[in-house]
Amino acid sequence: MPQRYARFSDISMSERILNTAFLLTIGIGYLMALINLYYTDQGRDGKPGLSIDDITIQFHGSNDQTRLGSAVTGIMLPNLKYKSDQEVILRWIQNGADEAGYNDKIAPILNRDCVLCHTPAINPSLPDLTRYPSVSELAHGGGASVPSLVRVSHIHLFGIAFILYLVGKIFILCEINIYLKRVMVLIPFVAMLLDVLSWFITKRFSEFAFLVVFSGALMGISLTMQILLSLHQMWFSRTEIKTAEIKTEVKTKTRIKAQRYR
Ligand code: HEC
Repeated sequence: MPQRYARFSDISMSERILNTAFLLTIGIGYLMALINLYYTDQGRDGKPGLSIDDITIQFHGSNDQTRLGSAVTGIMLPNLKYKSDQEVILRWIQNGADEAGYNDKIAPILNRDCVLCHTPAINPSLPDLTRYPSVSELAHGGGASVPSLVRVSHIHLFGIAFILYLVGKIFILCEINIYLKRVMVLIPFVAMLLDVLSWFITKRFSEFAFLVVFSGALMGISLTMQILLSLHQMWFSRTEIKTAEIKTEVKTKTRIKAQRYR
């Protein structure tokens, strides 16, 4: 006789209640996480509502919000000898603030108008505007730092893996096509890994912000499916009766077999 694995029809009422309480709590927790995401990320691009730009800015940063950019449009503007140089600097920032452009156009402006104060030897507390590396840092807008991404990733992976594993363990008790089940159990984990990977990719290449959204959505949808299917089968599915019938059928068959060999 092939081995039979446990299904929802095999578990006790207390186990069913425990599973349900757990799944509902995870579901509510997930909703709260989404609302939290909305509050923390919306409006990063200066517009209300969550958009792909907000995600891009969170991981990659924005050329519109650099310290150098706001300095030359704000408090440091009076130091520029020619106001037209503001345009030159802003355009250079917009285009990615590369080193060739720096040597070509930016260094001469800074050397003339800014290094007077912004030299480490004179004012160690002010940003150093004498070298490309430090100017480049001021000319690239924020985004998540690699250490902060690593920190969030490891917490995220450990925490979510537990949730996915426990929800998956319950979901495995469903009566559905086994091939579908095998895929469905795997998808949230793949989505989670893709999600974390996409943060790092988006930090480097802003075009990949969609991947953050896609993998996050994939994980949300697959987890929700597991939760809903489990809840449905635990409380509303009639397969229970069918399995009970199969069980008695199997029992009688083995009994007959056993008698035959007796
Ligand atoms: C007269 C001295 C002086 C000159 C000239 C000067 N700065 Fe500054 N700069 C300062 C001081 C002082 C601060 C700190 C201001 C503060 O923190 O409020 C500062 C701060 C900054 C900052 C950092 C702002 C931040 O995000 O904290 C940047 C960027 C900057 N300056 C760019 C420039 C540029 C570009 C020029 C040339 C066009 C320039 N500065 C010329 C004195 C100067």
